[in-house]
Amino acid sequence: MTIEETTPDAKGDIQNFWGRLYQSLYAENDAGLTPEILHRQLDDLADMFAYRAHMAATDMTADMIRGKRVLEIGCGAGGHSALFASRGAHMTSVDITPERVISSKHKLDLLAGDAPPASVLQTDAENLPFADASFDIVYSNGVLHHTRDTERALAEALRVLKPGGRAVILLYCKSSWHYWINMWFVEGILRGRMWGDPNWLGKATEWGGKDTQTVENPITRCYTAAGIRKLFVGMSDLQLRKGEFYFYLIPKLGRLYRRYQIKRYGAHPGGKLVYGEDWPIQSPWELALGRVMGFAWFITCDKPD
Ligand SMILES: C[S@@+](CC[C@H](N)C(=O)[O-])C[C@H]1O[C@@H](n2cnc3c(N)ncnc32)[C@H](O)[C@@H]1O
Repeated sequence: MTIEETTPDAKGDIQNFWGRLYQSLYAENDAGLTPEILHRQLDDLADMFAYRAHMAATDMTADMIRGKRVLEIGCGAGGHSALFASRGAHMTSVDITPERVISSKHKLDLLAGDAPPASVLQTDAENLPFADASFDIVYSNGVLHHTRDTERALAEALRVLKPGGRAVILLYCKSSWHYWINMWFVEGILRGRMWGDPNWLGKATEWGGKDTQTVENPITRCYTAAGIRKLFVGMSDLQLRKGEFYFYLIPKLGRLYRRYQIKRYGAHPGGKLVYGEDWPIQSPWELALGRVMGFAWFITCDKPD
């Protein structure tokens, strides 16, 4: 397990936000990790992703990734990378935020002996320090819409992918309930957050954990299907699938629903590694609505030979 620092032009505002959010969400769980606890939490994580038909379950099965060179861009606290390493992938994981790089390295170190060698780098997705055609699979979950130049970061992701290799990427979906109702209408219009503030969506998204928010998320972008097709032009077999709808995200009413939801459906321990807490289990209604108006695009495509 190696760790390197190659961030050429530090993006302090981005690192600051995601570093503070790391402390709020993950530091406590990370402090208690042992190899046994991590293995148990990875089993829980796999179970939660399977329930949600998340791309980490549907497009990154052990059969698909064992023995493959996989790059995760924006690995965050390393839950996804550790899961793929435990499935036999040769992981290279990058993130711009030092706290998250250390957290990912910690998890991959705890797997040593049970997974292929892995490396973690602190680097910017917009300037990847890898040769062209280095990886069989490039995976990125909810990252590229938070960087300054999404087109450039995506071009980098596809540059380092081998011809015939596969990209598995989550980007936020504009054609969704969460964007138009919870964000645009309630936060943007009713609460007046969008007036005169080009980053109103960034400010309205992403914070979590128990701490009061003291820093702002610099960037969040959302995409229509046409926008995604434009971003991935030139790739073959582009598949788009929507997911991730939650009643509890509806402002005000959602808080009441969340209490009912946890009583009715329970909370899944698979959330610990990726949200720092148990995940309130989605109802079958939410799973179905997610396929129509979810906030996530699960994107897969191949790089032509
Ligand atoms: C929403 S988190 C997702 C983390 C992880 N993929 C997950 O699903 O748990 C966004 C991550 O993107 C990282 N990030 C943002 N801009 C980046 C950039 N330009 N280069 C590399 N990582 C970046 C942040 O540090 C953060 O860890």
